[in-house]
Amino acid sequence: MKVAIIGTGYVGLTTGVCLADLGHQVVCVDNDPAKLALLQQHRAPIFEPGIEALIAKNAEAGRLTFSAEIVPAVRQSDVIFICVNTPPKADGTADLKYVEQVARETAKALNGGYKVIVDKSTVPVTTAEKVRETIERYKTEHTTFDVVSNPEFLREGSALHDTFEPDRIVIGADSERGKRVMLELYRPLIEKIHAPVKIVSVRSAELIKHGANTFLAAKISFANLIAELCEHSQADSREVLEAIGIDPRIGRQFLSPGIGFGGSCFPKDIAAFKKTLETAGIDPAFVRAIEQINDRAWRRFVSRLEQELWVIDGKTIGVLGLSFKPNTDDIRNAPALKIIEKLKADGARLKVYDPQAMGKVKQLFTDVEYCHDPYQVAKGSQALVLCTEWEEFKTLDFKKIKAQMATPLIFDGRNALNPAELTALGFRYVGVGR
Ligand code: NAD
Ligand code: UGA
Repeated sequence: MKVAIIGTGYVGLTTGVCLADLGHQVVCVDNDPAKLALLQQHRAPIFEPGIEALIAKNAEAGRLTFSAEIVPAVRQSDVIFICVNTPPKADGTADLKYVEQVARETAKALNGGYKVIVDKSTVPVTTAEKVRETIERYKTEHTTFDVVSNPEFLREGSALHDTFEPDRIVIGADSERGKRVMLELYRPLIEKIHAPVKIVSVRSAELIKHGANTFLAAKISFANLIAELCEHSQADSREVLEAIGIDPRIGRQFLSPGIGFGGSCFPKDIAAFKKTLETAGIDPAFVRAIEQINDRAWRRFVSRLEQELWVIDGKTIGVLGLSFKPNTDDIRNAPALKIIEKLKADGARLKVYDPQAMGKVKQLFTDVEYCHDPYQVAKGSQALVLCTEWEEFKTLDFKKIKAQMATPLIFDGRNALNPAELTALGFRYVGVGR
């Protein structure tokens, strides 16, 4: 099938590359010239394991192209995916201006035939209806079309795996024709790996996405609440949560306490969901509690550092990991950045390192020392703070690290290191909820 992807970010690029790899003819459109310039050289503008090789493979096979032009992309395609960003407004409401802009531009490009317009961006319930109304209003030629919701559940860092082997494909379609086109599009995945398909109404699909992210965020905040209590009562949250998670009704995943969830999606999506509840006149206390616990998570961690160092002013503190999670260079809402801001404000000298996110962080802070590896971070530091559990931090030569540090103090914000091993080497180790 012929597919246009409008908005070639994490989701659009992954979707486009994977659909091309499944045999479809895909054009990815973006209005960011810098991004397009890289993509046209078959280079990925983001760090996502495996994606660059797959861009090259499919572009060279002629199945994947990149363009700034929405009109020809829409005209040549059977299916048009809206994958633009839906950032939060100041009050938490999802800002749908990019979705609306794409709907308008798509409408003007329509010139006959039948098209399926797919909303893949994460949006509040009833957005697809607004997209349909906008297209009706702005289209200049007779065209039949359906607007379908197909929410995306990929995680950054494992985007290709999540797309090729999805837990489920949710198709929100209110017309038989739209449903059939979507099933045909995903047929290779449905046949090859028997990906479970949930066909639901458009409104349900929109709510499934916000509901899923809110539930995942709730699990993390529950873990952080238990961690808080464990710190108070000197119990070990890992033991507690592991035993709780053995119950298959609860599940072990997403119960790791730490310095809180970040990223471009959980914080904004639960804020948008809270707004949807408020608008519906439903008490959003549940979502508010998730946010409050998440905010306390990194603040509690900094308080423990303050207790340990007594005075932060003038101390040198090393930070390992800046991205919001490992295997990505994405720093949006990364807890590490909040911790750095706070420690800077308290007068600390910061030395930082991340395997992939340094370029992006350098644009934010000019008054921190950027190091080329963790050993340089350790040199002269009075404490090391691990904020992102990159694999390379788990296998460091901690003997060498200790020899470099001014005082051997490790704060493990992700419970990623081995406390027994570090204590045996003479470190003072502080984790989360233990
Ligand atoms: P992103 O910011 O990485 O990418 C969005 C892209 O859209 C950008 O490249 C931007 O230049 C482009 N764009 C914006 N307006 C445009 C226009 N009018 N014409 C052409 N291009 C335009 O965003 P993302 O992380 O890919 O997220 C996209 C959507 O998918 C959001 O709603 C997000 O909540 C959702 N989502 C994201 C993830 C994730 O892991 N990042 C996962 C699931 C769902
Ligand atoms: C999340 C969801 O997992 C995806 O299903 C969804 O598609 C995506 O949001 C989205 O809508 O954008 P992502 O943000 O890429 O994916 O990353 P996650 O692996 O979910 O991690 C999010 C944050 O939670 C990270 O900061 C991570 O460190 C934190 N986390 C995760 C914890 O603190 N504890 C855990 O147990 C799990």
